[in-house]
Amino acid sequence: MKIITIGNNKGGVGKTMQCYQLACYLANQGKRVLAVDLDSQANLSSTLGVNVSRTLIPEWLIGDVEVKDVIVPTEGEYDFYKNLFLIPSSRHLANLAKLLILSESEVRKNAGRKERLLKLRLQDIAGDFDYVVIDTPPMLGDELIMSLVASQLVLIPTQAQDYSIDGLEELMDTFEIIKETENPELKFSIIPSMVNMRRKIERSRLEELSQSFNTAPAIRNLVEMQESISLRKPVFMLGKNSKGKGDFVELWKSLGLGEEAQNEQNV
Ligand SMILES: Nc1ncnc2c1ncn2[C@@H]1O[C@H](COP(=O)(O)OP(=O)(O)OP(=O)(O)O)[C@@H](O)[C@H]1O
Ligand SMILES: [Mg+2]
Repeated sequence: MKIITIGNNKGGVGKTMQCYQLACYLANQGKRVLAVDLDSQANLSSTLGVNVSRTLIPEWLIGDVEVKDVIVPTEGEYDFYKNLFLIPSSRHLANLAKLLILSESEVRKNAGRKERLLKLRLQDIAGDFDYVVIDTPPMLGDELIMSLVASQLVLIPTQAQDYSIDGLEELMDTFEIIKETENPELKFSIIPSMVNMRRKIERSRLEELSQSFNTAPAIRNLVEMQESISLRKPVFMLGKNSKGKGDFVELWKSLGLGEEAQNEQNV
């Protein structure tokens, strides 16, 4: 079971977009996929058509609720939904830090440290899924740190703008600490996100970014990406001339995450 986190402490950089597109793409390839929404904004959950009034994620992490009680199937007009399951979020997840403090002794007994809780809980379903894809909130809090401890790979959507690139430093420091202390196998990939190649400043920032890091192929800023979310239709379902589909498929291939969608008849 490969666990992939989509993370960046900067907000609005395209994390949920990439998480949604990747989860649907892998499911369409016949992989069994569990999407985990660790953001109390619950954007991934609503894009997957799941709205819960109160998420049980804190209770699951603490050990009061079993995993079978937090996983829900996704539903929709496409066939791939049968392979795609979700642990949904809701605003209640904003209380996670507080609830973890209240359950400190239980957490310590179970996992040693709270950072290891998600990894521990996902071990219970290791044989049930091919991929776990985790969407995280825009802050360096418990949700993101737990996800980094549990994952083999973190995808970091980054906008080709000054503030976004500056903010990467803090995230990379955290990444290094987690790699040294908890998860030596953890790898990362920086994905230029929402790029407008017509803007000279973005092209030069992108160039700088690729000098500092080994960046993945870029995802452009395209209206069809927004439409994909509002219509709940992943980009690989768009026609073969779709730029959005082209960008994402190239990205996933470069990351070794499956090949061109096999079910061409669905496209
Ligand atoms: N490649 C793209 N082209 C055009 N619009 C995009 C693209 N990627 C994301 N968006 C849009 O930008 C907005 C922010 O994207 P998204 O919600 O994925 O970011 P996020 O990093 O998850 O934000 P948050 O930090 O609030 O969770 C959304 O309206 C989304 O539809
Ligand atoms: Mg998001």
